Amino acid sequence: MDKHHAEEKIKQLSAELEQHNYNYYVLDKPSISDFEFDKLLEELIALEKQFPELLLSTSPSQRVGGSITKEFKTVKHTYPMLSLSNSYSKEDVLDFDRRVREGLGLQSTDLFSLAQVNYVCELKFDGLSIGLTYENGELKQAVTRGDGVQGDDVTTNVKTIKSIPLKLKGDFPAQFEIRGEIFMPRPVFDNINKEREEIGETPLANPRNAASGTMKMQDSSVVASRKLDCFLYNVLGAEFSDKGHFETLQHAKRWGFKISEHSKLAGNINEALDFIEHWDKARFNLPFDTDGVVIKVNEFKQQTQLGFTAKSPRWAIAYKFKAEQVSTELQSISYQVGRTGAITPVANLKPVPLGGTTVKRASLHNADIIEKLDVRVGDFVFVEKGGEIIPKIIGVDFSKRKDDAQKTIYITRCPECGTELKREDGEANHFCPNETGCPPQVKGRMEHFVSRKAMNIDSLGAETIEQLYNAGLIKNIADIYDLKKEQLLPLERMAEKSAQNLIEGIEASKKIPFERVLYAIGIRHVGETTAKKIAKKVKSLQVLINLNEEEMLHIDEVGEIIAKSVSVFFADEENRKIIERLKVAGLQFELSAEQQQAGSEKLKNLTFVISGVFNKHSRDQLKELIEFHGGKNSGSVSGKTSYLLAGENIGPEKLKKAQNLGVKIIGEDEFVEMIG
Ligand code: IVH
Repeated sequence: MDKHHAEEKIKQLSAELEQHNYNYYVLDKPSISDFEFDKLLEELIALEKQFPELLLSTSPSQRVGGSITKEFKTVKHTYPMLSLSNSYSKEDVLDFDRRVREGLGLQSTDLFSLAQVNYVCELKFDGLSIGLTYENGELKQAVTRGDGVQGDDVTTNVKTIKSIPLKLKGDFPAQFEIRGEIFMPRPVFDNINKEREEIGETPLANPRNAASGTMKMQDSSVVASRKLDCFLYNVLGAEFSDKGHFETLQHAKRWGFKISEHSKLAGNINEALDFIEHWDKARFNLPFDTDGVVIKVNEFKQQTQLGFTAKSPRWAIAYKFKAEQVSTELQSISYQVGRTGAITPVANLKPVPLGGTTVKRASLHNADIIEKLDVRVGDFVFVEKGGEIIPKIIGVDFSKRKDDAQKTIYITRCPECGTELKREDGEANHFCPNETGCPPQVKGRMEHFVSRKAMNIDSLGAETIEQLYNAGLIKNIADIYDLKKEQLLPLERMAEKSAQNLIEGIEASKKIPFERVLYAIGIRHVGETTAKKIAKKVKSLQVLINLNEEEMLHIDEVGEIIAKSVSVFFADEENRKIIERLKVAGLQFELSAEQQQAGSEKLKNLTFVISGVFNKHSRDQLKELIEFHGGKNSGSVSGKTSYLLAGENIGPEKLKKAQNLGVKIIGEDEFVEMIG
């Protein structure tokens, strides 16, 4: 076949395959057998192989996956990904309605006004939020929520989700973003777990975590095999003649998106309450998880009038279903030792079904909680599953307490190494002080050291660390840099290639910048952000080592606890030796020349308008920060404004103007994130 014919054929096959995909995954009405579908797909893939220059980024062959993303690019959201304020009762929902009416200047006592606010009721899908950008009808980028200001570019993985269109149909806008929730359908989740249990792998905790874990996988063909799905619920950035949200979603449906058929337009808040009541029970029959209902003011004009707080829109609210509860027997309490030596007591329960999974364990958090609940082995306890993975014990059924139940006595020695436990004033958890000799702490510290946000040595996973530790090859993080390929090869499951990858990964980590090294070495209480702040201020590790606690307090974000922890860390002879060896190995213990330059250009070419009252900074401080990072301040919102930095009690005029002009509105936290 010549190129011209191949091009035609590829076009035709792609269109045909996308239509079948749509029929199957969006409409749930298959129009072809799997066998025939695969045949067409193979034909397309063969042609694309033969003419690689004809392979389009929107080709249905992209859905198979296969490409590897080593590191997901961080991308700034065009519009911050806000969250919703939560409500838990009928009263909360009625309050919301009252606030909406007040905000719109409608009298709540005026019976006729009942019909004046229409609400869209949607299910609150329990997955991970995603923003999809389309340009001229083609999927250009898919970004996770991240911290709301910036997220990970997961486009390659998202393309494997069959219900997400790669090309749109009909009269779509030239450019827009659509947001929704990626989730793992229950039957898919159950199947995966059945298989995992069969091969002795730990089951996935719940569909939500399974979905977000899958999205971060490097190999997109594994993502494709996980059969994720996606409902879309919010269109942004397009000029619409539509009156409201509901109509817009109906349009989006025609462009090929999967929009939930369960959404409903309610004429008033009582109808919304009916919707909640219905789904509180009916949700268990759905093939996916939902943890609540979202109620949104339908009309765009009214939405604009109501506007946003710094964190969430005033025109929408999430109603969270009450968590399901069960009672079961507490069979024993075990104690886990974490990376930092913190001890977590864990309740081992008689297995009981709860919210679609079988619960066997629950966290008891710390000694105080055990004391407060007065929980004893043999008790029947009430277990609740909220949003978190690990269920919570919320109380004891004292009516079933056995006469001989013994009061729980908290352990005094580390279950792993026998060292006497300590508890610092003001801290909730006991901890094992044997940092260098307690195996889970030593291994945990190494796992943290190599993790993605730290030294990013992904060829050195938890299993390999365990193996190397057991073989006596690594006892601390500095030992990692002494590893030789010859030492690795005799280890089980360590082929030439993996040994080579491991050594290369270790070598590459020597380029990781200072702030991440500072985070990686695992000083208690020094998280990613604090490490960044400290690195920026001190510029080199030697300066930090020479600071006393008092001096450290001048660093942003560093309070007494952190200052003490840093100084204790460097006072330790063992730690100093390790740092010395890491220095010799060639790790970065200073900011690079570019990083050292005063200020930054993070806000270059951006103009800010500040309005309202802020919690963490004064307005002058914010202005200084903007200038320090190369941005400009302005007093009034105009077409040239890049961001409206909004605090509490923000001036309504400014807000309205910003919304009308499409100026991005951010809160203090997002701003702080922006400047890192
Ligand atoms: S609307 C500006 N609608 O719930 C508000 N969110 O805190 C945009 N979610 O992060 C959100 N189902 O990930 C909206 N039907 C729905 C939703 C939904 C689930 C998630 C979303 C968001 C969180 C709200």
